[in-house]
Amino acid sequence: MKKQILKELYKAKDEYISGGRLSTKLGVSRNAIWKNIVNLKKEGHIIESARNRGYRLLSSDLEISQTDLQVSIGTKKIGKKILCFDEIDSTNNYAKKIACKEEHGTVIIAERQTAGRGRRGREWVSPRNEGLWMSIILKPAIPSSEASKLTQIAALSVCNAIRELCKCEALIKWPNDIVINGKKICGILTEMTGELGEMSFIIVGIGINIKTREFTEDLSAIATSILIESKTEVSRKELFLKIMEKFEKYYESFIENVSLESIVPELRKYSALVGKEIIVVRGNKEIYARAKDITSEGELLIETSDGGKKVLNSGEVSIRRKSGYL
Ligand code: BTN
Repeated sequence: MKKQILKELYKAKDEYISGGRLSTKLGVSRNAIWKNIVNLKKEGHIIESARNRGYRLLSSDLEISQTDLQVSIGTKKIGKKILCFDEIDSTNNYAKKIACKEEHGTVIIAERQTAGRGRRGREWVSPRNEGLWMSIILKPAIPSSEASKLTQIAALSVCNAIRELCKCEALIKWPNDIVINGKKICGILTEMTGELGEMSFIIVGIGINIKTREFTEDLSAIATSILIESKTEVSRKELFLKIMEKFEKYYESFIENVSLESIVPELRKYSALVGKEIIVVRGNKEIYARAKDITSEGELLIETSDGGKKVLNSGEVSIRRKSGYL
């Protein structure tokens, strides 16, 4: 009902729509309309109530607004609730703070992050209007050892969404980067909390460089944006919606089959590493190897120079190509 009310207010644009009209149109009491409006306001939608006139949605000045995304999204659970911020330290930090009391699938988006975080304590530069900085709160009933599989689900969702909307050759640099023409355009930071092998929630943080035109000197060798690589200005809203759609589909299949099997062929197909010479870095140890395959568990199978085979779980490894980042 909440979403239907929101849609009606959205359709009415800047006009007021009375409680009576909403109640006739949606077939519920005026009191039910009022209760849902209160909840929508609590969720952050800016709705004005005026005596004798009714309710009116006040448009947000954010380029990607919560209301706009909420009425456009077609998923059932992932992104059913979206919280948009103009500025925040890190969407992952905020998601962790609210995860206990929020429902599964809630998504946090920020126009700008002041302390965006990458893996291994690195900074994630997140300027206004240039990218999608977001975190998904997930509460799957799976052991914590399975959590890294959600990174694979997120990676394939982003990779396929970019391929469809931007017509460019996005690839997955296992485990958590998306690259175009050998440079990184997206990083994924999956974090969880839990005890004794049982987790209470997982946060999947996704950062995508979309409209960045220039990077600092140290970043420009390894980072790029969709705009630089594809010369197209993809809408952040459309890309977000497509990622949500893909994520929900892959996630549901994973939970239902307790396996990544349905997406492994695509993880392989779009792997930037399989068949390549790589360096696996763990702490200060480096192993020279060849990436052979993505296993049915979403791990990376490598062959070391002595012919030995090893399966890598994402954990704390980082992968480099023999020459440069990729
Ligand atoms: C990496 O490549 O090291 C992972 C980068 C993850 C960045 C995203 S942006 C949204 C979310 N909030 C954060 O602070 N980090 C993740």
